[in-house]
Amino acid sequence: MTTIGTEYEVVFVDQDGTVTPTLASGKSAGKVEVRNLESFADRICANARFAASLIEVKGPARCPTHVVVHLERQIISIDGKGLGADFWIRPETLVLIEADIHFGRSIRLVGPKGSGKTTFAQILAKVLGDVPFIKVDGTGIFKPKDLFGAESAENGSTKWVPSDLMLFIEQHRSSKQWPKAIVCLDEFSRMGHSMGPFHPLFDHTGQYSFTTTDGTIVIDGLKGFIFILTDNPVGPGYIGNQSLDSAMGDRVEEYEFTYPPPEWEIPWLVGKTKISETEAIHIVQVANEIRTLATEQAWDQGGPSPRRTLRSAEDVSIGKPMALAIGARIIARYPGGDAESPRLVIEQRLKSANLLNDRNSGIQAVVNVADIGAPKT
Ligand SMILES: Nc1ncnc2c1ncn2[C@@H]1O[C@H](COP(=O)(O)OP(=O)(O)OP(=O)(O)O)[C@@H](O)[C@H]1O
Ligand SMILES: [Mg+2]
Repeated sequence: MTTIGTEYEVVFVDQDGTVTPTLASGKSAGKVEVRNLESFADRICANARFAASLIEVKGPARCPTHVVVHLERQIISIDGKGLGADFWIRPETLVLIEADIHFGRSIRLVGPKGSGKTTFAQILAKVLGDVPFIKVDGTGIFKPKDLFGAESAENGSTKWVPSDLMLFIEQHRSSKQWPKAIVCLDEFSRMGHSMGPFHPLFDHTGQYSFTTTDGTIVIDGLKGFIFILTDNPVGPGYIGNQSLDSAMGDRVEEYEFTYPPPEWEIPWLVGKTKISETEAIHIVQVANEIRTLATEQAWDQGGPSPRRTLRSAEDVSIGKPMALAIGARIIARYPGGDAESPRLVIEQRLKSANLLNDRNSGIQAVVNVADIGAPKT
């Protein structure tokens, strides 16, 4: 007998034996065709958000009435310290992101250049237990299909050549780890001219299909792949194609990233390099003036990242003059030249904020060092 269209009571039980409240109370498995119990169980497990296995069945084998599935569900909790003493993130943001990972939601991080969006995605993969990580650059992606491969002409016919992302997904889609992987789509809003085609990639089905010259390709098992989209804020200097449309915005959880606050950055610099607090304050004040300027003026380059302030502090820690350290590691990275140039605007701003007064060697030294072509990296 093949039973079609019978509804089954499915009770999901957590590892410790407690019934998962959201899934308990006789949640129906829907109308499923039961040819044999194994495939039925497979189907339930494949649709579960967590690694699952069948543990108990009541009722006739081909027409079970009660199925108990063991869910290997773990509540994701990321210890702030686990992120490493080297990374700052707002604690509230981290708490919400933990919930997102728990449920396999995609997230979008928006913040100025150098505020740590990409680095956060990488660190997250690491602290979640070295889950596989891949980063895809938005440049050159015009539609979602481009993410997964390209049509290439070969011997007079076209052939679908999968991208690294596609191979990565194939490799990890049956993983029982949660999350299965983290996929960082860098500069997401530069992808595509219309967001519409991207919507299905971020819906709840965990499945995405597209057509190629080789036929339709269906990617499933996407549940558990956390997509982390990163973007720079939309402003006068915005160079992306568009911001997210509302349907897309509704599909991903969005967080604003900012540069770390001085209360974090100053002791961080002191701790890492053993410079004095006064020296660290000077470097951070300079960086923050430039960060504000970069945002106000919508400079593509953004403000100095914590990596820049750290480089300055390292130089100071081995006895290099403050002016040289700031000049070479921070200011020289902005284009100089005419009166409108970022470097001169920076110089004026720092002068009026009294940050280029001679605490160590003074404004002239700072600007001159920058002008003689301090290293750019
Ligand atoms: N919040 C932070 N805490 C510690 N280090 C940070 C933080 N933000 C950025 N950094 C450091 O600054 C550097 C640049 O960061 P990252 O490239 O992740 O920024 P981003 O926001 O992705 O920038 P972009 O918009 O250019 O892609 C990295 O070396 C990173 O370690
Ligand atoms: Mg980035």
